[in-house]
Amino acid sequence: MKISIYATLAAITLALPAAAQDGDAAKGEKEFNKCKACHMIQAPDGTDIIKGGKTGPNLYGVVGRKIASEEGFKYGEGILEVAEKNPDLTWTEADLIEYVTDPKPWLVKMTDDKGAKTKMTFKMGKNQADVVAFLAQNSPDAGGDGEAAAEGESN
Ligand code: HEC
Repeated sequence: MKISIYATLAAITLALPAAAQDGDAAKGEKEFNKCKACHMIQAPDGTDIIKGGKTGPNLYGVVGRKIASEEGFKYGEGILEVAEKNPDLTWTEADLIEYVTDPKPWLVKMTDDKGAKTKMTFKMGKNQADVVAFLAQNSPDAGGDGEAAAEGESN
């Protein structure tokens, strides 16, 4: 059963062009209250956009950023394996929505390892697109459409 749910989710996210997933960034800013116990959004010049905790990596610029690439943050093995297996993969809004919904199955899918572990002990049941739209708003370098990356093919 699980498999088919993920397959359906993947089919839906693949079928939607990036624009159709647009959440509401203003709502997403409020939703980010659920994240800030563990995550801050801090610009490279040290400006706090959202003051937050350090349990998780700084999420400034995360859209378009390489997976698990925040300098100085000690990521768990699972997400590091995703980055290792997909060296050119950057966070797209679609992947972020899937990841914040439930990090573990995304890691399992991306690593092909059922035992993949996440250090992020948080799941988001709704309004994921809004929070991701807010992250995109704080990702000035996201620029072009990351989803076009050809490497995505290899899965
Ligand atoms: C209880 C603490 C906690 C909460 C709450 C939390 N996270 Fe996380 N998050 C983490 C940790 C820890 C990691 C690192 C995961 C790992 O290393 O496996 C992480 C990783 C991430 C990553 C990967 C970043 C990268 O550099 O590749 C994203 C994106 C993310 N979180 C988004 C969110 C969002 C959005 C929310 C709120 C909806 C949220 N998180 C809520 C702890 C948390």
